Amino acid sequence: MADSTQVGLLGCGTVGSALVRLVDEHADLIAGRAGVTIEIARVAVRDLSRRRDVKLPPERFTTDAAAIVEDPAIDVVVEVIGGVEPARTLITSALQAGKPVVTGNKELIAKHGPELFEVAAAAGVDLLFEASVAGGIPLMRPLRESLAGDRIRRITGIVNGTTNYILTRMTEEGSSFAAALADAQRLGYAEADPTADVEGYDAAAKVAIIATVAFGARVHLDDVHTEGITGITDDDIASARLLGYVVKLLAIAEEIDGDVAVRVHPAMVPVHHPLAAVRDSFNAVLIEGEAVGELMLYGRGAGGGPSASAVLGDLIDAVRNLVSGATGATVTGLVDRPIRPIGDLESQFYLLMEVADRPGVLAAIAGEFGRHGVSIQSMEQRGLGDDARLVFITHRAREEDLRATLDALREVEPVHRVGSVLRVTGDVG
Ligand SMILES: NC(=O)c1ccc[n+]([C@@H]2O[C@H](COP(=O)([O-])OP(=O)(O)OC[C@H]3O[C@@H](n4cnc5c(N)ncnc54)[C@H](OP(=O)(O)O)[C@@H]3O)[C@@H](O)[C@H]2O)c1
Repeated sequence: MADSTQVGLLGCGTVGSALVRLVDEHADLIAGRAGVTIEIARVAVRDLSRRRDVKLPPERFTTDAAAIVEDPAIDVVVEVIGGVEPARTLITSALQAGKPVVTGNKELIAKHGPELFEVAAAAGVDLLFEASVAGGIPLMRPLRESLAGDRIRRITGIVNGTTNYILTRMTEEGSSFAAALADAQRLGYAEADPTADVEGYDAAAKVAIIATVAFGARVHLDDVHTEGITGITDDDIASARLLGYVVKLLAIAEEIDGDVAVRVHPAMVPVHHPLAAVRDSFNAVLIEGEAVGELMLYGRGAGGGPSASAVLGDLIDAVRNLVSGATGATVTGLVDRPIRPIGDLESQFYLLMEVADRPGVLAAIAGEFGRHGVSIQSMEQRGLGDDARLVFITHRAREEDLRATLDALREVEPVHRVGSVLRVTGDVG
């Protein structure tokens, strides 16, 4: 191989253009670490007329991404277009042509990772995807390498900066969801269409990838039980605060008796829990391993710079392997594992109810909890005119039993409204 590696860059938006700048600014450092210089030789974009803040001659740009992948002069391909197609076809062709690929594409890896890992393994080349989960936070490599010998029990992450920013504003300033979202959009933390973030879909793709790598299992995006934060009210946040909790959107991957459980949902986290201190648009991932115990990684989960840093780390790795002739670093040996349905999982729950304030009501409510095997840890009554507002925290209960309890409570005459229901988490270890 020559003393310069020719990189084909597919996509030059937020992450791609930050990568081009980083490769330029850190050229000496990269050459020292990779053993060769790295050159962004060709770049594919959708619109050639768009202005881009990168120092590359215009003739390197094309709208024909397939031509870059097929170009024999290109040694390594970086895909930062996003979405399933054409990314999936382009990456498959590159791997089959013996070219290592680096991608930041969470949607693609969460939906088609196992199939692409097999193509990479068959071709004996790297497929690296650090930037696809938690942006600048190194997580895939620690899971694949540093923790390869440990048995991971559970990974709990705050992996979506937009929702964490919104929940932080709601917690610290008493903002409504709508006001906090508008703030996030103004500051560029949230897209004009925030659905993927606020409904939990972005976090779901990330936790599917985390579970695949951590448990060596084929976990698909569809396996992730997903709830977002659109139903969280300022009342829930205030109630959580009174009880010593903060509300966070958690992505949880867990191994339970050989099964894999993967979910994204808001939860009340005790204020002293390490994830409660993760504010604004920051991300953090708490890993619980049999030997390592608890380990937390914290940083920027999105943005051009942090994501480009992760892409560049992978790129240097891929180039080093190419120079040394090492066989591909990818995910191998994935197996099918049972996915435990959400109804079979256990948690503590917080629930709020408005009921008629008269004798016998509590006994009727307690009866329904008891009939469905859900035991109450604490109950607090707050007056509200003729109504009373009751706040319950349950002991650990199966989701299915809690749901049955709620259905029954809605039929109890003095219960006027069953309001928010939130999982309570934080039993680290
Ligand atoms: N942004 C982040 O903070 C972040 C963090 C981690 C991971 N990621 C992932 O990184 C990837 C890229 O994200 P981004 O934010 O950089 O996206 P972006 O700003 O929308 O950039 C996408 C780029 O791809 C180009 N493109 C789109 N369709 C194309 C096609 N058919 N052929 C050639 N080029 C095409 C676009 O061209 P034009 O410029 O001409 O429109 C643009 O340059 C996604 O998978 C995303 O999930 C992003």
